[in-house]
Formats: sequence, C-alpha cells, structure tokens
Amino acid sequence: LSSIEVDVGQVAEGQAITVKWRGKPVFIRHRTAAEIEQAKKDDSVEMKDPQPDEKRAIKPEYLVLVGVCTHLGCVPLGQKDSEPKGEFGGWYCPCHGSQYDTSGRIRKGPAPLNLEVPTYQYAGDTVVKIG
Ligand code: FES
Repeated sequence: LSSIEVDVGQVAEGQAITVKWRGKPVFIRHRTAAEIEQAKKDDSVEMKDPQPDEKRAIKPEYLVLVGVCTHLGCVPLGQKDSEPKGEFGGWYCPCHGSQYDTSGRIRKGPAPLNLEVPTYQYAGDTVVKIG
C-alpha cells in the first residue's frame, strides 16, 4: 500500500501512536497545548535545520513524523510515557544521542536534519491520510 489512513481521534492529548508506512515507522503525536507553545516559542532559536513549527503540522495538535533518526536511521525513543523524550521534550535517539524537540526538529546530537514530515493530508476531521 502506498498510502494509509489513520484515525487519530482516539489518540488522547499527550499520547502518541506509531503506524507503519512503506516499511517505516510513522509517529503521530497528539501534542498538548504546552508542547505546541514550546515548539512555537523555539521557532526563533538557532537550529541546525531551521523550520517554523507551523510548517511542520497541518493541524498543530497532531504532529506526523517519519520515526527514523536522520543520523543513521535508528528509531528514536519518546513515543511512550516510559521512554525518554530527551532534553527538548520530543524524542531521544538511543544510538548516538540525537535529541529532537516537540516539533521533531533536531536540537542536539549528530543528526543533521529534522525528523521528516511525510506527505499527508486530512481525509476527515481526524483521519490522516499518509502518502
Ligand atoms: Fe540517531 Fe545516530 S542514528 S543519533
């Protein structure tokens, strides 16, 4: 399947799910107001791969990202409450310590680029069509 549809309506605020798309994990996080606010606040901070938060999510509350570290391809941690989210509250790559923020932007460590935002659109109010 080249595209998938995911109903994100059941994902509670502050929670995340991982789906598979084209053999890769895709992270969908229902961000809290505080996470969105932090991401927007950090738009002005100097970054390796600068990108404003509003360009990274169609609806700010649902962040959709390819869950593959842009360094050497490990799957970052931070999807579950029990996993470390790193210093910036997003994701932490256990392989070499890259840290991503609540927008999935690279903030620290060897990864050169932000977590990729896949091509997606909304096929319904809470239905995300990826691909
Ligand atoms: Fe993620 Fe190296 S693969 S930091």
